Amino acid sequence: MSVLIKNGRIVTASDDYVADIYVEGESIAKIGKNLKIEAETIIDASGKLVFPGGIDPHVHLDMPFMGTYSADDYYTGTNAALHGGTTMVIDFILQTQGRPLSEALETWKKKSQGKAVGDYSYHMAVTDFNDDTKKEIQGLIEDEGIVSFKTFMAYKGALMIDDRQMVGLMTEVKKHGGIVTVHATNGDMIDHLVAKHRAEGKMDPLYHYLSQPEVTEAEASGRFADMANYTGVPAYIVHLTCEGALNAVRNRTKRNQRVNVETCIQYLVLNARLYEKGFESSKWVMSPPLREPKDQETLWAGINQGMVQVVATDHCPFTMEQKAMGKDDFSKIPNGHPAVEHRVELLFSEGVNKGRISLNKFVEVSSTNAAKIFGMFPRKGTIGIGADADIVIFDPNEKHTISAETHHHNCDYSGYEGWEVTGKTKTVLLRGKVAVENGETKVERGYGQFIKRNKVSINI
Ligand code: URP
Ligand code: ZN
Ligand code: ZN
Repeated sequence: MSVLIKNGRIVTASDDYVADIYVEGESIAKIGKNLKIEAETIIDASGKLVFPGGIDPHVHLDMPFMGTYSADDYYTGTNAALHGGTTMVIDFILQTQGRPLSEALETWKKKSQGKAVGDYSYHMAVTDFNDDTKKEIQGLIEDEGIVSFKTFMAYKGALMIDDRQMVGLMTEVKKHGGIVTVHATNGDMIDHLVAKHRAEGKMDPLYHYLSQPEVTEAEASGRFADMANYTGVPAYIVHLTCEGALNAVRNRTKRNQRVNVETCIQYLVLNARLYEKGFESSKWVMSPPLREPKDQETLWAGINQGMVQVVATDHCPFTMEQKAMGKDDFSKIPNGHPAVEHRVELLFSEGVNKGRISLNKFVEVSSTNAAKIFGMFPRKGTIGIGADADIVIFDPNEKHTISAETHHHNCDYSGYEGWEVTGKTKTVLLRGKVAVENGETKVERGYGQFIKRNKVSINI
């Protein structure tokens, strides 16, 4: 299997030049001007951008949550990702409290095997850190290549751990070369506000937003950063949304940043005015909620300042029928929205095209940094000799409109319905194979591989 990509504008986190790429088997074999090599497939990329396949390190596929399951499975989720230029996702395994991590791993292997069309890995969500769980950490890192451990400071009763467990987990993960990630919001404060609003009969989706004010995220983000600094574990805050939370991290890390930060595309491009639409607002019920325009500005600035290293999606789709579970009570609306397909194109359109971020920064936060933080660089996240040939060929000028009619998510609405986007994924290679071309999936179910990851020892 060989592919020659001719005359594309190759963009990585650090470079920007026109050249040819020769792919042999699954990886990049040569890069150069006017390569004179025979290849089975030749792609003319003149006038196109050529960048590393996107990596979305925050998706929830086929996940049991709030009495239902997220609507995309490993096929529909990774297929939607590929169509939008994301060649790899990292999903979350959820430990059942009181049960071993190994049991949850087996469940997720069954969900994914033979289904994925894009590459994937798992974060292990530790929802019950005890003496037995502790013994499983080393094996997950060294034998399974699962080096990242997710924690929740909210969702009490199902997912949340306390600070004693957090520090214990961090200590163990550091010892074996892993990273701890967190949903950083103060679960007890949120539960108090949810109960208060419900007691007052305030059941509209707006009260989801009003039950998670900025302080709940700022407090937990600072507390997590303190615990990470104290234990020295590489650490990562997922879906950070607001100025208060980013400042809490910044204030603790002035001398040496010890916590990596992810935001998600929706927090950059959407805001809390969407909670003023009655039950339609359930489309954007997610945790943390959308914030204010001043927070959007802070996040764009945080990306340029290197404080925010990753733009993910927290892709967690629920259909309108599932959202209706919370028709009379905002606290029962399944949290999450579909986005994995749109991340790269929205970030390009709203970020690069509108002059908010550079092309190199776009590649850095949509692919390279996730590969570095989660132990996959330089196999993934860049275009270089020997790297996996995960390559996006992208038309920076093509305009299109996002709609539930045309997206590949298994979801009957889009939170971005009618959005006009400039820039379109045209061809996607995954490990040397053309996986998407002209809107068609070219690889079979099961082509997507589980990627074992390497140990990580520092924050980037
Ligand atoms: O609303 C969200 N974020 N749903 C998925 C679960 C989580 O907290 O990431
Ligand atoms: Zn979360
Ligand atoms: Zn999530």
